[in-house]
Amino acid sequence: MAIFADNPELDNQWHAVAEGAELDSGPRAVRLLGKNYVLWRTPDGGVGAALDRCPHRESPLSIGRVDNGILTCPYHGWAFSDGGTCVRIPSNQDPTRTPPASNLNTVGAQDRYGLVWLCPGEPIGSIPVVPHEENPAFRRINTGVDVWKTSATRMADNFLDISHFPWVHTGTFGRSQDTQVPKIELEELDNGWFGYRYEVTAANPAKAQVTSESDADTVHRWMTSGFHLPFTVRSTIRYESGLEHILLLISTPIDDESSYFSFVVWRNDDFTTDPQAAIAFDRAIGAEDKKMLEQIPGVLPLSQTGVASVQSDRASVEWRRRLIELLGV
Ligand code: FES
Ligand SMILES: [Fe+2]
Repeated sequence: MAIFADNPELDNQWHAVAEGAELDSGPRAVRLLGKNYVLWRTPDGGVGAALDRCPHRESPLSIGRVDNGILTCPYHGWAFSDGGTCVRIPSNQDPTRTPPASNLNTVGAQDRYGLVWLCPGEPIGSIPVVPHEENPAFRRINTGVDVWKTSATRMADNFLDISHFPWVHTGTFGRSQDTQVPKIELEELDNGWFGYRYEVTAANPAKAQVTSESDADTVHRWMTSGFHLPFTVRSTIRYESGLEHILLLISTPIDDESSYFSFVVWRNDDFTTDPQAAIAFDRAIGAEDKKMLEQIPGVLPLSQTGVASVQSDRASVEWRRRLIELLGV
């Protein structure tokens, strides 16, 4: 059974599926919860989204083209407005006469934080709030959307977990001597985020120094880690210098065992560093997580008895408890 695709509650949540900038060159195909969608840019700068299936003979619309927000099917040229209404059937004597069955099944789409978010059902959930987006002291850095061959549940669990740092992140910031995790106390953070605060002294190798803006061997960081259902994790990092580095780590189920991974960074640096250099270290950390997770088969069991958990897993245990409640499983 497809766990995610068969759960209607997930349709009612917002899921990041692409970067908005990817729509500049034409329509784009994405897959969410086992279904294919087409995304396109509308004339007002918004995003149109619909099942990627022409109502005429089922051609993917994502291989068509977009002109001034009008999406045109490549097979017989049927054209659809930004609201999904069929506005032109070229083979008809009067091409503007279009039957109701020729309209597209559109779904909710929003552009937020440089990402396109889809909600195929009733938008009961919300897009997570990152207040730094409105703060002029911070800049946002987008990093593209990657595909990980693992379940979104494994990803969110991993992003809430700090006990793997000295084991998995030895090539980046992990310090092999620091395996013990301080007692995790869960709390409401800000803006609907729920998680915990902690402090860590992390290795600061040469390749981390653009990100940390420090040339010391180690850096002390005050951090929070929190989640927003269903699968988004926010990590905040504050250095002694006052530099803050906020990471939004978003996992989106393509299907049960493959996912989109998007991460977005906000920083209050002086905006002069090359943005891609400022997040190169985060990319290297993400590659270490990806390599680990892609070796674990299947979906992370949601039931608390399906896997053994310890004190350092408290945030994940609470996230899974709330996810089970949300999904009604
Ligand atoms: S299949 Fe799209 S116009 Fe015919
Ligand atoms: Fe990690």
